[in-house]
Amino acid sequence: MNTFLLKTEQLTKRFGSNIVLNQVSLEIPAGCILGLVGENGAGKSTFVKCVTGIYKPDGGSVCLGGNVSMIPQEFNLAQDLSVCENIFLGREPSRFGVINRKKMAADSAALLRRLSAEISPYGSVAELNVAEKQMVEIAKALSVQSKLLIMDEPTTVLNSRETAILFQVMRELKNEGCSIIFISHRLDEICEICDDVAVLRDGSLVHRCAASELDPEKIARLMVGRELTRLFPEQISVQNGEIALECAGISSGKEVSDISFSLIRGSVTGIAGLAGAGRTELAEAICGLRKRNAGTIKVSGKNVSIRKPADSIKNRIVYLTEDRQASGLLPDFSVTRNTTLASLIKYCTAGFIHSGKETLSALEYIREFGIKTASPDAPVSSLSGGNQQKVAIAKCLDNAPEIFIFDEPTRGVDVGARREIYDFIASLAKAGMTCLIISSDLDEIIGMCPRILVMRSGKLAGELNGAEITQENIMYLATGVKK
Ligand SMILES: Nc1ncnc2c1ncn2[C@@H]1O[C@H](COP(=O)(O)OP(=O)(O)OP(=O)(O)O)[C@@H](O)[C@H]1O
Ligand SMILES: [Mg+2]
Repeated sequence: MNTFLLKTEQLTKRFGSNIVLNQVSLEIPAGCILGLVGENGAGKSTFVKCVTGIYKPDGGSVCLGGNVSMIPQEFNLAQDLSVCENIFLGREPSRFGVINRKKMAADSAALLRRLSAEISPYGSVAELNVAEKQMVEIAKALSVQSKLLIMDEPTTVLNSRETAILFQVMRELKNEGCSIIFISHRLDEICEICDDVAVLRDGSLVHRCAASELDPEKIARLMVGRELTRLFPEQISVQNGEIALECAGISSGKEVSDISFSLIRGSVTGIAGLAGAGRTELAEAICGLRKRNAGTIKVSGKNVSIRKPADSIKNRIVYLTEDRQASGLLPDFSVTRNTTLASLIKYCTAGFIHSGKETLSALEYIREFGIKTASPDAPVSSLSGGNQQKVAIAKCLDNAPEIFIFDEPTRGVDVGARREIYDFIASLAKAGMTCLIISSDLDEIIGMCPRILVMRSGKLAGELNGAEITQENIMYLATGVKK
């Protein structure tokens, strides 16, 4: 009798000469939530892709005790199909050979209700935000009713309420005898929801134990294989100086109304708020990605007209989007071309792209950020999720910005790399760059920003400085409710 829902033996996978999985032997019994952790590029996604048959292993075996479904790390939705068509893609319920659209919509609605997601089954996927897209991916995976469900970083784009609902569903599935492989860089989540934890380091399974034996610090140590010290760089509070960016009365649609603030050169400021508070929309309105109904923007004291993204870049304002897949990167292009894409003009002489210069610049970023890639010519799609995020930042930097707006900069980034990104933001500020960080991660925003603007329902609910910055004060401004 096989009581395991998954058993891999000596699973090995290579890409070229790069050994990405090295003899991984792992068993998962029924009714178990297994947390799979490891640094960016450790092989987590590759492991689950070998399990689901997306990749063919080079050695070892995979034995499954039931069918398996997966929520992939990068969205895999057909943009021109509706929500319910996506959920049942390839498995459309039919009667007498005709797709039963009514049933498809009703079943989709029931799945979305289970996830408390207010999404219309008939709506278009292209119009959903990242959290909604993630919910559709989850509904799609649930619709298969598998014994083994694999979730590759499902919570990176979810807020705490959505995450709590997902965890509830995960517990229900577990009680029904299903098992789940749960991948996340949020180590507190791993400790909260998982029964067991497996740690991958450089493609090898280095640890497997009960989650109750671990805490986030212990997991982080196992992941990187050494002691970790502080996560956040020293904060530098800039009180006086030239105003780099001044926004007055910015309004855009229903999402952003009458927002005014200014940023001093070289400062690091956070924007906090619940999902839907309008933080991303505010950034988009500033950068010309979204129409402004009102408001003026001054850069270094001068009025500027920003109507489209190119105007924003011209005025040295860059925006790292939260949805790197939809607007950040071109996955089939090389690492090099992605980093230089927005600033190709720099690499051109007489209309020709100087590819040597381009590669040199890319190599510099690869070194500076520790981007794990086989070569500068490798397509971005071959990089792990966290390394793709580093490429997205490099791409923005290549425009030599003065004002850098980061939207969820460490989403999907492991603890070690996260530190690199934080240090990097701090060094940019030290060099005089003005940084604005939008983040749903309270620890991150508190750790990085000596000044925090809090948004609620499209408006600026208040501002916190220095010692005023606490979780409670942020949540109070974000919700309007005192705990
Ligand atoms: N299709 C591919 N071709 C070449 N190399 C690849 C391919 N897919 C993954 N790799 C390499 O395999 C290694 C492991 O990648 P993987 O995506 O499994 O990491 P991960 O642990 O999921 O990381 P993350 O936390 O960043 O998502 C990386 O170095 C990556 O560059
Ligand atoms: Mg991954």
